Amino acid sequence: MALRIDGKKTSEQIKGEIAAQVEEIKQNGGKIPHLAAILVGSDGASQTYVGAKVKACEQVGFQSTLVLLKESISEEDLLSEIQKVNENPDIDGLIVQLPLPKHISVEKVTAKILPEKDVDGFTPANVGRMALNWPTYISATPFGILELLKRYEIETSGKHCVVIGRSHIVGSPMSILMARNANPGNCTVTITHSRTKNLGEVARTADILIVALGKPEFVTAEMVKPGAVVIDVGIHRVEDPSKKSGFRLIGDVKFEEVEPIASAITPVPGGVGPMTIAALLYNTLQAAGRRVYP
Ligand code: GUN
Repeated sequence: MALRIDGKKTSEQIKGEIAAQVEEIKQNGGKIPHLAAILVGSDGASQTYVGAKVKACEQVGFQSTLVLLKESISEEDLLSEIQKVNENPDIDGLIVQLPLPKHISVEKVTAKILPEKDVDGFTPANVGRMALNWPTYISATPFGILELLKRYEIETSGKHCVVIGRSHIVGSPMSILMARNANPGNCTVTITHSRTKNLGEVARTADILIVALGKPEFVTAEMVKPGAVVIDVGIHRVEDPSKKSGFRLIGDVKFEEVEPIASAITPVPGGVGPMTIAALLYNTLQAAGRRVYP
């Protein structure tokens, strides 16, 4: 039976470490980290995510500012809201929650964020720095995965890592990070996607399988090499009348059949998901301490 990689416990540990550092900053009269979040419109999931981020800031002793903007805001007005935060010396980190309404260019918005404050690590400057293995803000999900591999002391050097999915937010950066000359890293990496032929066979060659394609229970036992490490980034709601909420959460991996053959696996929920907020807090602490851009 596989080792269960506990993202909930690990994220609580990281939050504890961050809270202790904030306490120290306070005692030394230093700058309290301050995160600003911009939320456009009233999408339910986005409201939940941003609410969780603001709450996590409170938990560790950060300051936070939530900027709520109407769905109908023009692109120009949104860009000037970002500019205001860019110019506010009290704010260390800025995130603009995605997705944005269709009339707004996500590229223009992302590029407007000052790289020094881009604690999501989404700006072209910070993605470039990540690819070059320079100091940067690594975005939340990739950071969370690296931190789990590190804290669970999973050997990555020389291993074959197969990434399923090539999104800008997860698959693409993960493939770069796992190939870097770093720890975790030093993998031989294969990135697969919707056009990949014989995806199941390719997946079965992985020592480390990172699944981020967004299809419920896509990865079955036949696609996993016995003893592989399996990281499941997917999260999906499925109806379940036996639950009070009426639904339960599942990942991109068929957990019940893969767990018995893997050597380690992240569950859904409680795996990668909880790590993303810890990552954002970590990056904001780095921003306040000017550790990425001195
Ligand atoms: N939407 C989904 N994931 C993210 C994230 O990590 N950051 C932001 N800003 N929006 C998201």
